[in-house]
Amino acid sequence: MAPPAAESLPASKRSISTIAIIMAMQTEALPLIHKFHLSLAPDSLFPVGVPWVRYHGTYRGLHINIVLPGKHPVLGVDNVGTVCASLITYASIQALQPDLIINAGTAGGFKAKGACIGDVYLVSEVAFHDRRIPIPVFDLYGVGQRQAFATPNMSKDIDLKAGKLSTGDSMDMCPSDESSIIANDATLKDMEGAAVAYVADLLKVPAIFMKAVTDIVDGDKPTSEEYLENLSGVTAALGQAVSQVIYYIDGKCISEL
Ligand code: ADE
Repeated sequence: MAPPAAESLPASKRSISTIAIIMAMQTEALPLIHKFHLSLAPDSLFPVGVPWVRYHGTYRGLHINIVLPGKHPVLGVDNVGTVCASLITYASIQALQPDLIINAGTAGGFKAKGACIGDVYLVSEVAFHDRRIPIPVFDLYGVGQRQAFATPNMSKDIDLKAGKLSTGDSMDMCPSDESSIIANDATLKDMEGAAVAYVADLLKVPAIFMKAVTDIVDGDKPTSEEYLENLSGVTAALGQAVSQVIYYIDGKCISEL
């Protein structure tokens, strides 16, 4: 009997054909853009006038897209944070119908939880730490805890640390954010992950989160100084790790990850 045509199989049993890598900063994306010879898409996929940027290309038949929120039109800096991350995740899913979302970027790490500069984590769980709503049930809504798509085989086969991620719209950490991060049991702190998770969950697209540590939040150095000092080296490590995941994904279906 002939095997079933690929289109008749459920998505989880079909080879992954399209991935959308959601990143916040151009600098973070450059190693991957170079490694996979991705080119800038003259994008008609997104609304006219938005600053969002897409790089695309193929690796052995796998369609790779990196989507970035682009630069602020006046200030010229990358549009980091949860608002832009959720918008580009929504638009990318609508336009590209990816089989898998990878949110990749840098994060602060907590040395008390074992994080070191340059470590790359495959995140198990995400939550917000700056959405405090002290009313029963709304409090849980604010925290917005979600599991990353489970990848038991990939986690075994690729040597990445595992930890939980907490997301907020500030790079610094005030005492109430710190309490929430501790309550979230997070090893990592970023500015996009839980927002990407919200949209991926809403639209039922599997999402994984890869975060590389640029600064130690509970260390002695000022966060922004340490971040800028380590950004280029850590971004290279992130690129290596995401490449390994792309090689791993190639030819597999979602249920094999
Ligand atoms: N990205 C890199 N370092 C960070 C930090 N300390 N907080 C939030 N996002 C980050």
